[in-house]
Amino acid sequence: MFSTPHFSECFDTPTEEQKVDELRARQHHEEEIYSLPRHEGWRQLSLRLYKGFWFPEAILPGVLSLRHHLRPTSSDIFLVSFPKSGTTWLKALAFAISTRKPELLQSRHPQDCSPNLETFFAGPRVPDLDALPSPRQFSTHIPYSVLPKSVHDSPCRIIYLCREPKDTLVSTYHFVNGMQRPEAAPQMPLTEAVELFCKGLTMYGPVWEHQLEYWQESQRRPEKVLFLKYEDLMADPEAIVRRMAEYMGKPFSAADEMNGMVGEIVRFSSFEKLSGLEINKVGLWGKEFDLGHLAIKKASFFRNGKVGDWTEHFTAEMAERFDAIARDKFHQSGLTHSHSSV
Ligand code: A3P
Repeated sequence: MFSTPHFSECFDTPTEEQKVDELRARQHHEEEIYSLPRHEGWRQLSLRLYKGFWFPEAILPGVLSLRHHLRPTSSDIFLVSFPKSGTTWLKALAFAISTRKPELLQSRHPQDCSPNLETFFAGPRVPDLDALPSPRQFSTHIPYSVLPKSVHDSPCRIIYLCREPKDTLVSTYHFVNGMQRPEAAPQMPLTEAVELFCKGLTMYGPVWEHQLEYWQESQRRPEKVLFLKYEDLMADPEAIVRRMAEYMGKPFSAADEMNGMVGEIVRFSSFEKLSGLEINKVGLWGKEFDLGHLAIKKASFFRNGKVGDWTEHFTAEMAERFDAIARDKFHQSGLTHSHSSV
């Protein structure tokens, strides 16, 4: 039975020896991070290039730490996405499928249903994940090639949610412009955001390589990676929820079907339902992780939740630029975005 994780239980008081070890490891990681190429493009969000992807600087200590410490078990489920691809939705659905208690989503923010690993590991203490009840659900934005080998080699499973990059960019643009800023930095124009995004200069970018890596692994090892698309989820949520439940080893029983469980999971996880809840509208997320100015408004995980919002923002040239990149990168891979012109 999946019970709600108490993330604080992962941090008990360290011994003096542990404190010294953790401090030493942290200094070592900081030295490595400071030697990486840096970009200030998104103003309030410094990025560093690590293994071919641009990571938020504040998160990178967590990435390095978990690459060293993470020991997955065979029953773990990793919920993976490029930022602003519908992670919040994926977390809500996976939580509701596991618990079979979708109504619990009325009293917790979906982001608090499963810890984001790199954020969880980014603080001064190394979390003890053994304290979490099994089966565990984690989330991450880390590209497949950057995940620790322990995840590649373990029978643990990955559910990847992919979104049309033009919609992902529009969502990222609004999200980053809405973030708390260290000082009154001006908002970024969309043209500049497009420029940076196309060069891969965005959180965990480039998006095309991110999606392609998980896509290729899902083709190679379908038992390892379930590859889902935001647009398909929007078109037929019940079908995708059934696929997720099968994949998670929690298929719906005849009784679940009779009781309308699938419909309830979809309803309680819907944008309309979640975005209207007080718990999802008020306050900041991430404060407990000590990420300084990266603290994010809980409400900012819900904007309008639509497919094709890019048509309201993009010029024809911008769209063609995105589509040309997709044609080039996804060439002969079999990966397409059905709701774009590619
Ligand atoms: P928009 O900005 O296009 O509205 P992430 O969760 O990865 O940060 O992605 C956020 C995006 O997912 C936002 O997109 C947000 O509105 C959308 N979203 C959040 N919850 C959703 C839900 N339950 N159903 C559909 N979309 C959702």
